[in-house]
Amino acid sequence: MSGPASSPAPVGVGLVGLGTIGTGVVKLMQRNFDVMRERLGFPLRMVRVADLDTTRDRGVDLSGIRFDADAAGLVDDPAVDIVVELIGGYDAARRFIHRAIESGKHVVTANKALLALHGKEIFDAAARKGVDVAFEASVGGGIPILRVLREGLAANRILSLHGIINGTTNYILTEMEQSGAAFETVLKRAQDLGYAEVDPTFDVDGIDAAHKLTLLASMAFGAELSFKEVPTEGIRGITPLEFESAAEFGYRIKLLGIAKASPEADGVERIEARVHPTMIPSESLLAKVDGAMNAIAVHGDAVGPTLFYGAGAGEMPTASAVVADLMEIAREIRRGRAGRVAPLSYLPESLRPRPVVPLGEIEARCYLRFTALDRPGVLARITGVLGDHGIGIESVIQKGRGRAGESVPVVMLTDVAREEAVRRSLALIDALPELTAPTCLVRIEEEL
Ligand code: HSE
Repeated sequence: MSGPASSPAPVGVGLVGLGTIGTGVVKLMQRNFDVMRERLGFPLRMVRVADLDTTRDRGVDLSGIRFDADAAGLVDDPAVDIVVELIGGYDAARRFIHRAIESGKHVVTANKALLALHGKEIFDAAARKGVDVAFEASVGGGIPILRVLREGLAANRILSLHGIINGTTNYILTEMEQSGAAFETVLKRAQDLGYAEVDPTFDVDGIDAAHKLTLLASMAFGAELSFKEVPTEGIRGITPLEFESAAEFGYRIKLLGIAKASPEADGVERIEARVHPTMIPSESLLAKVDGAMNAIAVHGDAVGPTLFYGAGAGEMPTASAVVADLMEIAREIRRGRAGRVAPLSYLPESLRPRPVVPLGEIEARCYLRFTALDRPGVLARITGVLGDHGIGIESVIQKGRGRAGESVPVVMLTDVAREEAVRRSLALIDALPELTAPTCLVRIEEEL
């Protein structure tokens, strides 16, 4: 045992952004200092914190830590070996990360939006400087899913990945299903409880999930993928009727990030990558993930189906992922060698453009909810159009009877159909005089 006199020097951490997660990081590094030291063999110490707001009481002990608003000074401080970026957003975060990399500092970030848009530029800069950029906290909060893809499943070809990777929307969908309330009502409740942001756009329109899926799909398939290529739909169009109908058909509705290997087309390896509300079998494990929890199902060719579940957000779960990254990098600093594992799992020279299969080419069974006047012959006209496009129908339910001039919902499950045929049909059907609102389409995934 070595005594204090021979204690190894600590690795120094500087944190930019003392918000909820940043506060959690400081707390966790204090609370579990000993256990982390027992695992590392040396101390990992928060030496400096920068935030524009230096007065608010966050309920965390900052004694012994230099705390000011000078983020640039923190990045340049020789006592800081690893910079943690937790300010979020694009411009300032990107600047600080590049400044850190250029000064030879390793970086830990939770910034999925930045990496989904500018990941390549950041990873290339880090590779040139021989430093690490770690980002476990950017996807799935406390679930170590990136380490799973990078290391635990490294021997597999990944066949598919299905993720509930946005807690806000999973909370809203769960509440809508359980209470029968409308989207807007539940969103308001979620905002009051602090589950949803005041501006909920990123979450409810699927953008946050698409950022995360971009990173997951890049790592699963070695794809040079940008967030802009991922077809994305949010949950605003889902009504209480969808949950009622889904239950009758044996499904639940989840906002899924889906990525799949796709057969080669013209000698080009493509992938499916998309985010949209999805009906999944009620008995599947993923269907049982409720509230704000996250889960990611990964199917590898050797391991088979796997599922990773946990808190996708929150102070301490996300801090858990940030601090694990800090520990990994601290070990590398001590061993004098960065870059043990490539950040996107594949070596940079092995990453290649993998075109995303256009949504029109996707084949899936579909749930369709038509809103139509209750007149004889309407159903025949709808099914006629679908039949003309080669789309078979598995079940049809008309919900109630409409009085003269009133519309009724008609819900339908199709056989497996190509999306472009479904879209062409819906354009014609929605133009029929009896159809009084745009048709709601929810894709179905059976094999999770
Ligand atoms: N807004 C995200 C969610 C949490 O609702 O899951 C941060 O990634």
